[in-house]
Amino acid sequence: MAIVNINKNDLANVDFAKKSLRSHFSSLSSDLNRPVYYHIHTYGCQLNESDSEKMIGTLEEVGLQEGTEEQADVIVFNTCAIRENAEDRLFGNLGVFKARKRENKNLLIIVCGCMMKLQENVDRIKKSFPYVDIVFDPQQIHNLPLFMFDKIGRKKQLIDITEEDYIVEDNLLPVKRARKFRALVPIMYGCNNFCTYCIVPYTRGRERSRDFNQIIDELKELASNGYKEVMLLGQNVNSYGKGEGYDKSFADLLRAAAEIEGFSRVRFMTSHPRDLSDEVIDIMATYKNMETHLHLPVQSGSDNILKAMNRHYTRDQYLRTALKFRERLPEGSISTDIIVGFPGETEQDFLDTLDIVNQVKYDSAFTFQYSKRPGTKAAVCPNQVPQDVVTERFGRLLELQNDYVFKSNQAKVGKTEEVLIEGESSTAKDILTGRTRSNHLVNFTIPEDFTINGKLVSPSNSDSGVCADSFEGKLCNVKITHSRPFSIDGVMESIIDG
Ligand code: 5AD
Ligand code: SF4
Repeated sequence: MAIVNINKNDLANVDFAKKSLRSHFSSLSSDLNRPVYYHIHTYGCQLNESDSEKMIGTLEEVGLQEGTEEQADVIVFNTCAIRENAEDRLFGNLGVFKARKRENKNLLIIVCGCMMKLQENVDRIKKSFPYVDIVFDPQQIHNLPLFMFDKIGRKKQLIDITEEDYIVEDNLLPVKRARKFRALVPIMYGCNNFCTYCIVPYTRGRERSRDFNQIIDELKELASNGYKEVMLLGQNVNSYGKGEGYDKSFADLLRAAAEIEGFSRVRFMTSHPRDLSDEVIDIMATYKNMETHLHLPVQSGSDNILKAMNRHYTRDQYLRTALKFRERLPEGSISTDIIVGFPGETEQDFLDTLDIVNQVKYDSAFTFQYSKRPGTKAAVCPNQVPQDVVTERFGRLLELQNDYVFKSNQAKVGKTEEVLIEGESSTAKDILTGRTRSNHLVNFTIPEDFTINGKLVSPSNSDSGVCADSFEGKLCNVKITHSRPFSIDGVMESIIDG
C-alpha cells in the first residue's frame, strides 16, 4: 500500500468524464422532460459527511438535482463499517431497490464508503445484489465521475477497490456544504493506531496529513465566503503532521485556524488521549473563537482493557489529561466514547469505567456495545462477553452518564452563554437553536420587543420580515433559563455580530 498525492493533472480523465456526464444527463433530462435527480444516504461519522458533501458537489456539477429517494435517478449509499448494525441497515435498505431498478431503467445505484473496503461486503453485493451498479471504496471519492461514465452503457456491475491511500486536496473537488455557516474540513485521513476493536485502520488506510498551506488557504477562503464555523476533522487530529516531510503540528494548525479573521467558532474532532498536547489545551483557552469542548474518547476505565484495546494510555494518564483540561477551562466541556463489553471485560473492569465516568463527569458521551468486527484482533479473542451481560452493563452506564449530562445542563442555568445560531428549531417555528462555546445544545426564544437596527426581529412576529434563516451563523448572547435532560433553554439577550 502506498500513499499517493493526487494533483490536478491526475484528474484530467475525471474532468473528461464529468464533461461527458454533463451532456449525457442533459439529454436524459430533455428526454424525460424533468430534472435528473440524485439522492444520497450517508451513514456514520463526520468524515463520511464530508465525503458526501464532495460527492454531492460532483453530482450537481454534472447537472443533477437533489431529490427524494423515490425521485432519484442516481442513488448513493455512503456506508459505515464501524459497528455491525450500520452494515445491517445498508443491506436492509438495498433490498428495496431491486423493484425500483425495474421501474426506472436509468437508475444508477452506487454503494461506497468504509464497508466497501471489506471484501466480505463486496462479495455479498456481488452475490445478492447484482442490480447495484457501482461499488467503490472511500479512498476514491474523486473518481466518482469516472465510475459513472464507465458504468453508463454497460451492463456489468462495476467494482473498483484500490490498494492505494490517496491524498486529494479539497480545492481539487467541488464541495456542496450541508450547512451554510459550517464547513467540515478534513485535515488528515486514515489511522495508524490499530485499536484492537476498530475496523477504521483497515477501511480508511494509513494515516496521512494534508498540506498545511493548502488547508490554511482553504480556511481563509471559507472565512471570506462567510462561513462562521469550521470543524477540523481527522480520526486522530493530534497526529497531524507527524509523517515525514512535515514541520507543522496540530497545535500550529489550530492556532493558525483560530487566527483567521471571520471564524466565530473553530472546532476539531477527534483527539486521541495519548497525543493531546498541553499546547492544544492552551490554544483552546486562549482564543475566544475556539470551541471549549474536547472530545476525548476514553473507551474504557480499566487498565487491563485499555491495554487489550491497544490504546497506549493508562486510566491515570487519561485522568490527568482530562482534569488538566477541566482546570484550564472550567467552563468547558468534555465528551467521550465508551465501549461496553469488550472481550474479557470483567465486572471489576466495568466498575472502573463507571468510576472514570464519576471522576470526569462527562458533559456528554457516545456509548456503544462492543461489536465484533471481522479482521480486527479483538474479534478472535476467545473471551467474548455474553450479550445479556453487555446489555445489563450498558443500561447501568447510560443511567449514570445521563445523570451527568443533566447536571452539566443544569449548571448552565442562570448564566449568559455565547451561542452560535444554527437555525430554527425542528419542533417550533418561534424557537431558534444553536450551540454554546462548550457545545451545549440550546433552544431559545427572542423577546417580542427585541430589535436590531430599530427593526422587530422576533420570529413569532410575522410582520417583522426577519426569518430564522437570517440568524443562521450569527453569534448571540443567550440567558439560560431552564435545563432539560439533553438540552438547555434560554432567551436571547443580544446579538454579538449582526
Ligand atoms: N464496537 C463498538 N464500538 C466501536 N467503536 C469503534 N469500533 C467499535 C466496535 N468494534 C466506537 C469507539 C470509537 C467510536 C467512533 O466508535 O468508541 O471511538
Ligand atoms: Fe479506530 Fe482507534 Fe483509529 Fe479511533 S484511534 S479510528 S478507535 S483505530
